[in-house]
Order: sequence, then C-alpha cells, then structure tokens
Amino acid sequence: MAKGITPQKGIMEIALYQGGASKLDGISNVLKLSSNENPLGPSDAAKEAVVRASHDLHRYPSTDHAALREAIAEVWDVDPARVFCGVGSGEVLKLLSEAYAGKGDQVLFTEHGFSMYPIYAHACGATPVVVPEKERVVDVDAILAACTKKTKLILIANPANPTGTMIGSGELQRLAEGIPPQALLVLDGAYAEFVDGYDAGKALVEARDNVVMTRTFSKIYGLGGMRVGWGYGPQAIIDVLNRIRGPFNLSTAALAAAEAAVRDTSHTEKCRTENAKWREWLANALAAHGVPSDTSTANFILARFGSEDEANACDDHLKSEGIIVRRVAGYGLPNCLRITVGDEAACRRVAHAVGKFKGVK
Ligand SMILES: Cc1ncc(COP(=O)(O)O)c(C=O)c1O
Repeated sequence: MAKGITPQKGIMEIALYQGGASKLDGISNVLKLSSNENPLGPSDAAKEAVVRASHDLHRYPSTDHAALREAIAEVWDVDPARVFCGVGSGEVLKLLSEAYAGKGDQVLFTEHGFSMYPIYAHACGATPVVVPEKERVVDVDAILAACTKKTKLILIANPANPTGTMIGSGELQRLAEGIPPQALLVLDGAYAEFVDGYDAGKALVEARDNVVMTRTFSKIYGLGGMRVGWGYGPQAIIDVLNRIRGPFNLSTAALAAAEAAVRDTSHTEKCRTENAKWREWLANALAAHGVPSDTSTANFILARFGSEDEANACDDHLKSEGIIVRRVAGYGLPNCLRITVGDEAACRRVAHAVGKFKGVK
C-alpha cells in the first residue's frame, strides 16, 4: 500500500466485530445460542415468498421498498412515508451515524451498550462517549449529565443487549425531553417485539422531532440471514437517510421475506409467547443452580457467575457439551455469559449442563 493512502482517522481504532461462534471442532450436535437467533425460525409464509421471489432474480429489486413499508405500516400502525428500510437495522444505525455525526462530534452510548455502537461512532469520525449504567440498567440521569454541545447522537437499545434489561416509557420520555437541541435520540428496538405491549418508542417518535426508532427482522422474525431492518422517525430524517442509502440496498428475496414475515402476526405471537415461557423457565432453572440473572425482556438471559474465572470455566464446560453461548467480557461483563433462549429441548440441555458444571445432580 502506498504510504500516502490512509483510512480516515478513527477507523483503525475499530476492533473487528466478533459474531457468535457456530462451530465446535469435533462436535456434531452443536447448539448455537450465541447470536440471539429465533429457535423456531421464520414464518412458512416468508420461506414461500423467497421461493416465489426466485423467479424474478434477474430483475432489480424495488428501490422505494413500498410494499414492505406498507406492510410494516399496516401491522405496526405507523406512517409508511416515515418508514426507512435498511440492510438489517445495522445499516439504519450506520446511516444515522454517518448522516448526523462526524469529526468533532460525540456519539453517546452506555457502558454495556451494543458493541456496534463504538464502531459506528469511529467509522464516521466522531468521538464515542461511554456513559455508566446503574446495575446493568441504562441510567437516564447519567446520560443527561454526559451530554455536551458536541453530542449529536445517543444510541440506546431498549431492551438492551447483552443485559436484557429495559427502561420504561416515562424514562424514555424524560431522556428525549432532556437532551440538547442538536442531539438525536435513537431507540434501537432490535428486541422490542419480545416485550408484550411495548411500542418501541413509536409514541415518542410521533410526538417529537428528535427521536428515531429502529427495528429488525433478524430476531423475532427469524430472518437474520436475510438482512432486513427498518427505522421510523421524523420525515426530515427519513428523507436524509434516503439520500445516502444505496438505491437497491435490499434484495428482492429479502423484501419478499420480510413483507410476508411481518404480515404473519400469528407466527410472531407464537414466537413471543414461546420465548417468554422458556426464558422464565431457563432463568429459574439457572437460579436454582446458583446462577442468577436480571429479569430479561429479550430473547436471551445474562447469566451471572461469581467471577470471571467461573464464567469462563462454565463456558468451557458448555462447549465441551456442544453448547455455544456468548462471553461478554468485551461488554464490561466478564463474570457473565449471554445465553440465547432456545426451544424447550435447548433450554433443558443448557440447564442440565450448567447444573452439571455447578455439581448439582
Ligand atoms: C441491540 C442490537 N441492535 C442492532 C442489532 C443489529 O441487528 P441487524 O443488523 O441484524 O438488524 C443487533 C444484533 O444483534 C442488536 O443486538
């Protein structure tokens, strides 16, 4: 590489994103619980839509995503003109960072926030600012205290990953009302559908001009492999995002799968109910083995061990039994393991393996 060719400042600060592992050498019956994927998979309607879409693969996809935005609008009762679709919610978050933050600006997120947030901040040349949480819960007062004239973006996942905790609508409103005028609050709702009755910030988006919410098809809809997400926000912000996205950012198959998935509300409901049932079962089973967790509102639990050594030893034991979970030391939680809620068999297998590790017969 020629000496004068250098990437933008900040990019070399980025540590590569570590995805959840999916293979264990020498073990065939591997149970992957490291990426918060839906154990029930996508709706059959989504799979059928992908097969149908295969007949049109020589055509460019829709550039305005109108059919998908309309479906999202009908199901979630939002204005389709203010829905923006991206390659996973990751693309929506990245474009928001690129559009609203740059050199000299600050991007705020919290202590145990999603590990992509510092990457988005560095990638657009902004300065990441990490705000403390309170006992693994987002602390609105701490965020408000950390805001400055340079704060352009505040990224909060609600429910949060990897803690699984969330804050209530009163706190969200206090946050949106208290941030400085040049700052945009982004409510990342990757796990919002797992919370019965939570609007993911929709009312706040509609009442204000400084809040955007993002959602994904990768979690409850079981379409992580398709890469579809969306955002909902003030028209002016959606118009900005549409100016900088690729014109054909979503493939024909991805658009078709997502549209069918969002319309299949009975499958979504089934996934939500099953997840809630087995999440509670798993949390109780682990607690009975001496491994507590905060009440999770998402599709994973954050299992807490006595020490980093114990968490790592449990992870090694689970791996020896063919179970892959997520170490979260990189999130400032070295004594914890994040475990995706699988189906009944998966949860029983995890509980059994943790029990064995803890010496419980
Ligand atoms: C909190 C949070 N936000 C955003 C994402 C990005 O998801 P996707 O790009 O698949 O929509 C994830 C994925 O794990 C996540 O946990």
